[in-house]
Amino acid sequence: MNLYLDTANVDEIREAVKWGVICGVTTNPSLAAREDEDFAKILPSICDLVDGPVSAEVISLDYEGMVSEGRKLAAVHPNVVVKIPITPEGMQAVKMLAKEGIKVNVTLIFTVNQALLAAKAGAAFISPFIGRLDDIGHRGVDLVQDIVEVLHLHKLKAEVIAASIRHPEHVTAVALAGAHIATMPYSVLKQMFKHPLTDAGIESFLNDWKKAEAARKK
Ligand code: E4P
Repeated sequence: MNLYLDTANVDEIREAVKWGVICGVTTNPSLAAREDEDFAKILPSICDLVDGPVSAEVISLDYEGMVSEGRKLAAVHPNVVVKIPITPEGMQAVKMLAKEGIKVNVTLIFTVNQALLAAKAGAAFISPFIGRLDDIGHRGVDLVQDIVEVLHLHKLKAEVIAASIRHPEHVTAVALAGAHIATMPYSVLKQMFKHPLTDAGIESFLNDWKKAEAARKK
């Protein structure tokens, strides 16, 4: 399973890329709106930092608008993946863009049927939102597992991006559920490194080393 960062913040991406663990980025209009700079300026910077897919979402809701925005976004960099919501016009746009060789990530997926529609339209990626399902008392991870199974059963090629991840336990769960990718906030990626026994272990190793060195010098 690949790990992506779900952010439009260039500093977070620059830092996480250094750690060597992420190979893609997803953004959405809300994430872009949190940044001071215009997204048109941010997108090329993100693509320069990450050697992998970078999802950028369209704002239009009509077919023509989505296709035209999608083409413009895809022209920014070969790694740009156009993000389109699961609507009938959206899937019409996916079909057209896919025919032109442009990769699309279908977003706001909350059911297996929506995932099926996206895959049939030609989506390269499908993004079920697990945290938002958990928020309303459903089990987001179960949806990821079902989508992975259905795509596999019917030999559909789209990759599943487990999105709307809220904590490290979600990452483990979607990895076990067979997601191809987990996209997460910077804070969750950082939390993944942490365990109190790791901190305690590092501290005791260093203390033992220093004690032995001090004893040898006596
Ligand atoms: C995914 O592509 C979305 O950008 C994102 O994961 C949404 O997460 P949220 O539900 O925390 O806003």
